[in-house]
Amino acid sequence: MSKIVVYFSHAGENYFNGGYKKLDRGNASVIAEKLANMLGCETFEIVPKIAYPNTYKAACDAALKEKKEGILPPYEGYIDVSGYSDVYLVYPCWWGTCPQVVFKFLKDQRFNSSTTIHPICTHEGSEMGTSERDLAKDVSPARVGPGLAIRGSDRDNCDGALSSWI
Ligand SMILES: Cc1cc2nc3c(=O)[nH]c(=O)nc-3n(C[C@H](O)[C@H](O)[C@H](O)COP(=O)(O)O)c2cc1C
Repeated sequence: MSKIVVYFSHAGENYFNGGYKKLDRGNASVIAEKLANMLGCETFEIVPKIAYPNTYKAACDAALKEKKEGILPPYEGYIDVSGYSDVYLVYPCWWGTCPQVVFKFLKDQRFNSSTTIHPICTHEGSEMGTSERDLAKDVSPARVGPGLAIRGSDRDNCDGALSSWI
């Protein structure tokens, strides 16, 4: 039963608890670290080769352009996760689904039916959005387990939700 936490997170200015706030660490990154500590497993961070802009509006514009044009941006490094039984995938909800760089990571993998993906989506209202069914298309024949949506602004307050979901 080998497990890994794979995550993407965007530090910088973000929408947080009804206002804009500059975050030194992204919400998904904080949650991924908590999860890896709880599970006692390693992590892989999806780091885009070209960083998304630091201001919220510019990041939203860049992400929307990628989504509309189907751009799959490259990221640093590579890890083959097909040998893991459980892949915990942590990402922010962007425009109602996964960020395109997360789809790029998934499309680069060759999943098999012995892996289960466990999605956790940080958000500010959309919860999981359509991310679970969208990512399921890219990970077949791997299974997708029940997702967990965590409001980014609850990032320091989600240990109970995380452990009951695990
Ligand atoms: C480009 C972009 C698009 C976003 N789109 C949504 C959205 O559709 N629904 C939502 O609830 N939150 C949306 N958000 C807010 C983030 O999902 C939320 O702040 C999340 O906690 C950020 O996690 P992070 O700090 O790890 O990147 C968006 C944020 C950004 C930067």
